Amino acid sequence: ETEYIIVDPLKPDQNALKKGARLLQQGEVVAFPTETVYGLGANALDVQAVKKIYLAKGRPSDNPLIVHVADREQLIPLVKEVPEKAYDLIDKFWPGPLTLIFPKSALVPGEVTAGLDTVAVRMPKHPVALALIKEANVPVAAPSANASGKPSPTEGKHVWADLNGKIPLVLDGGATKVGVESTVLDVTGDLPLILRPGGVTREELQSTIGPVEYDPGLTEKKVPRAPGMKYTHYSPEADVVLITGEAKERKEKMKRLFLHLTQEGKKVALLLSEETQKEMTGQIVPYYQEVLGSRQDLSGIAHRLFSAFRNCDLSGAEIILIEEFSHQGMGAAVMNRIRKAAGGVQDAPLTIDMGDLDD
Ligand code: TXA
Ligand code: MG
Repeated sequence: ETEYIIVDPLKPDQNALKKGARLLQQGEVVAFPTETVYGLGANALDVQAVKKIYLAKGRPSDNPLIVHVADREQLIPLVKEVPEKAYDLIDKFWPGPLTLIFPKSALVPGEVTAGLDTVAVRMPKHPVALALIKEANVPVAAPSANASGKPSPTEGKHVWADLNGKIPLVLDGGATKVGVESTVLDVTGDLPLILRPGGVTREELQSTIGPVEYDPGLTEKKVPRAPGMKYTHYSPEADVVLITGEAKERKEKMKRLFLHLTQEGKKVALLLSEETQKEMTGQIVPYYQEVLGSRQDLSGIAHRLFSAFRNCDLSGAEIILIEEFSHQGMGAAVMNRIRKAAGGVQDAPLTIDMGDLDD
């Protein structure tokens, strides 16, 4: 009962867009591509439609949604005010992978914001998303189109795997470009705070508006300000172990842990950089392996990360060893997602005493 339509991402078929737009107007949900990840959209002003999003995803209702707009005119009715800094950011980064937090207007239902008095808004940089929102002529509330708990979908087939039978329509516009979700930035206070690192880097934000900090809740044992960041999101079925340290150290740790786990009969997948893969060639034969790209190319790593997690699960692997990357630039988003997938597990699975590994 889920219709699946493949559309040209640059010149999407008008009939497909009209079909999607009509569904949105009728209070239905539609999955569509954005430049970051696929979204599951509904009319943000229709409470019943918004509830269908939470139902289809199995999403906890205390996790607010991002409202997607196609132009600036659509933003104004949703917010009480637009802070000065937000104007500069909108000029520079919209359309694009930047979500801004605003004080919400009375128009936005509490179901969208999970009862908060702020609303998250972004203008996606994807022809299909923009045309769909324009055609529907409503602001579109959309979380990532994965089943709650799964990695965000970066291809139409990921949406299909998670939501087939639960939603009326998937628009497949191919693989998304960025691969990780948008940066969520709170500009309602004096000091802008990154609530979720994403497709726009802290460095890029700072070059436009000056000092920007990360929400302390992202790293310290405090409650994060973006409710969604408290969940162990983005995690594959397999256990994920983050391998840390300098390049040489990572390679040795990975090899040692791989051999140990394999001896125990575990099916072990490796997600690694091109450089590490080259150095390990011929030394071990993993159950499954994916090269995420060169260490230098953090955008490439971001682009491939979520589909690599899903591919590991499809391979039947039980444990995924993934190496640490730079935390600079896009590395901040990449490492945030990897850490969340690993759930704090580093250098050895919880079930193994590191002492076992000394040889
Ligand atoms: O790239 C993206 O942002 C994708 C595409 C589809 O646009 N969407 C996405 O939505 O990742 P979602 O629902 O998976 O993540 C939204 C994040 C959550 O962490 C949520 O808690 C946070 O934004 N958020 C939403 N509204 C908020 C608010 N008013 N205050 C603080 N955080 C908010
Ligand atoms: Mg999500």
